[in-house]
Amino acid sequence: MLAQLVRYWRAFARDTWNARPIGFDSNDPHFAARAGSCIATFPLNSTYATERLVTSFDSLNQRRSVPSRQLGEPGPNATQLNQLLHAAIRVPDHGKLVPWRLLAIRGDARARLGKQLAELHLRKEPDSAPAVLDKDRDRFNVAPLIVAVIARIEANHPTIPEQEQLLSAGCVAYNLLLGAQALGFGAQWLTGWAAYDRDAANLLGLSQNERSIGFVHIGHTTEAAPERHRPALADVFSEWH
Ligand SMILES: Cc1cc2nc3c(=O)[nH]c(=O)nc-3n(C[C@H](O)[C@H](O)[C@H](O)COP(=O)(O)O)c2cc1C
Repeated sequence: MLAQLVRYWRAFARDTWNARPIGFDSNDPHFAARAGSCIATFPLNSTYATERLVTSFDSLNQRRSVPSRQLGEPGPNATQLNQLLHAAIRVPDHGKLVPWRLLAIRGDARARLGKQLAELHLRKEPDSAPAVLDKDRDRFNVAPLIVAVIARIEANHPTIPEQEQLLSAGCVAYNLLLGAQALGFGAQWLTGWAAYDRDAANLLGLSQNERSIGFVHIGHTTEAAPERHRPALADVFSEWH
């Protein structure tokens, strides 16, 4: 029993240190959420390492995006990325169609994609202002990791409408946000014109039945994200009689 406790605490210390990109700031909601989740499940579970990824109710209540321009190095390491992606694809999926896939954009690929998007933009709108093209070029240059979530739509499915397939893909994107936060990273789900443009989809290698649901930017939080106004529950909840 004692040996097991020692193992738990060693794992806790190691993983906390490894997952420290947001630092040991006790006011930081991400760290507090992660630590809270660990401590809450600590005595109950035989393997600390798996349970530390459980999204606690507290972390749902503290969920927030971190603007992509406030995301920097380091991004998730190989182990963290693997954990993140595994968790992200555990989504509701009517009929097990798996109507989505994920595409990582990182390293030099980020600048290459930005350059190609700017060129595409200029071809489509030759009068584009330089600042607009600069924005395209820099779109993927800040966060170390961008995960494009791609919906794979089976049109005219006999029982599962397109809407349900898109929503399932949306859940993958949302899970990436939750997973990134649970691992101590910041993340933001962005679209922009590139998510809706067929030629941009071709640049990404999407098939005709595929659509970008969005780009989830993930990285170390370089600046705390302030809380933003949330709707009052009373304004969005009622009883059906
Ligand atoms: C499908 C979708 C697309 C979005 N695209 C953008 C975008 O292109 N630009 C942007 O500033 N915010 C975009 N947002 C909003 C941000 O992801 C985020 O929700 C916002 O910054 C507020 O943060 P919060 O998640 O803490 O509420 C999008 C959100 C969703 C759900």
